[in-house]
Amino acid sequence: MTAGIDADKYYTPPAMACRAFERAQLASAPAICVDTACGSGSLLSAAEDVLAAQHFLGIDSDPLMIRQLRRERPDWRLYVGDLLKRHRPPPTNFPGTNYNVDLLVLNPPFSLGPKKYLTVKYLGQSVKCSVAMAHILRSLELFKPNQGAIAVVPESLLYSDTDQNARELLDQNFSLTELLQLSIYTFKGARVNSLFVQFNSPAGRSNAAKKIVHAHKYLIPTSVVRGGLQMHAFNRVSLGARVIHSTSLRSIAVDGVGAVSERTSIVAKGRISGWMLLLPRVGLPNEGAFCALYSEDEVQLSDCVMGMTFSSRDAAVSAQIKIRDHWKSLLCLYRGTGARYITIDRLIDWLYSIGIIDRNSMGGMGEMEFI
Ligand SMILES: C[S@@+](CC[C@H](N)C(=O)[O-])C[C@H]1O[C@@H](n2cnc3c(N)ncnc32)[C@H](O)[C@@H]1O
Repeated sequence: MTAGIDADKYYTPPAMACRAFERAQLASAPAICVDTACGSGSLLSAAEDVLAAQHFLGIDSDPLMIRQLRRERPDWRLYVGDLLKRHRPPPTNFPGTNYNVDLLVLNPPFSLGPKKYLTVKYLGQSVKCSVAMAHILRSLELFKPNQGAIAVVPESLLYSDTDQNARELLDQNFSLTELLQLSIYTFKGARVNSLFVQFNSPAGRSNAAKKIVHAHKYLIPTSVVRGGLQMHAFNRVSLGARVIHSTSLRSIAVDGVGAVSERTSIVAKGRISGWMLLLPRVGLPNEGAFCALYSEDEVQLSDCVMGMTFSSRDAAVSAQIKIRDHWKSLLCLYRGTGARYITIDRLIDWLYSIGIIDRNSMGGMGEMEFI
């Protein structure tokens, strides 16, 4: 949003907040819910109405908004303050809770006057990122919500180079789901492409996955891996593992893995063997070049390739058919302002939705029926 000196006071229409929250997947009703840019409180109200949250804590730098909200919601804990300058969270000792924050909700400022970028600390690292991302990272760091966050974000936060580092850090702990695309007229006085997203923690993801699992008769187990070999920096040797790069996917589909001539002795992330399906991580995949492959020997995937391994030919071919049946929606997972790319979390979540389950993300899902 185009802020200026008004600190981005574009409040979320309550009906929009409710509609977005209805689409969220949570492991359980949040006991403690926090909004670190609470403004008029519409997100906390939606968390109460839609998600049955019980306790509410809000922070906003605008003393007038907080004063008004205190009158309207005397049962909420409300603080005036600059989120980006806080080093500690306010107390969360709500009665009947274990004091842990369950869910963060926020519609952060998108820009602050001339400031478009900030540097903030997250997971011990200094991260240069957009203003909206800075609020999200600092809020997650301060409150450590165990079910993640639901936030309104500018579309650019999902694709921009500025937020690339921050997205990679968030990828380590959260999977990102789009909940609701907003119109550029949603916020009075600001024209911006924005949307509601959910940063889902592993607990939330396994819960969401359980629901999907029940929708499928048979599930196909896989292990999703991201290749890690950098093409510009490896030694080519005559003996060693075959190196699969995104540029070789077409020829492999025709001639098999044996046709790859480049080999390396470096062992990087993404060493796989047996039945597999391969996708480019960067650049759109080609449907004709997407087919089940077999390699007795380990192959090394480059950092531009994602792999899925399967325990049998049947499983690999069934997954190939399922993925091809949903090819258009797979292409939508490839995003970015420059070269389009897919993240491992985006791929794993999408695979769940079509009944292909990543073994490594199944924590706490109990027994399931696999083909
Ligand atoms: C886009 S509004 C969103 C308000 C509310 N969450 C909603 O969805 O209606 C952004 C809010 O962030 C507050 N704000 C801006 N900078 C802030 C900061 N550094 N710390 C805390 N609040 C801030 C503004 O006062 C404003 O109320």
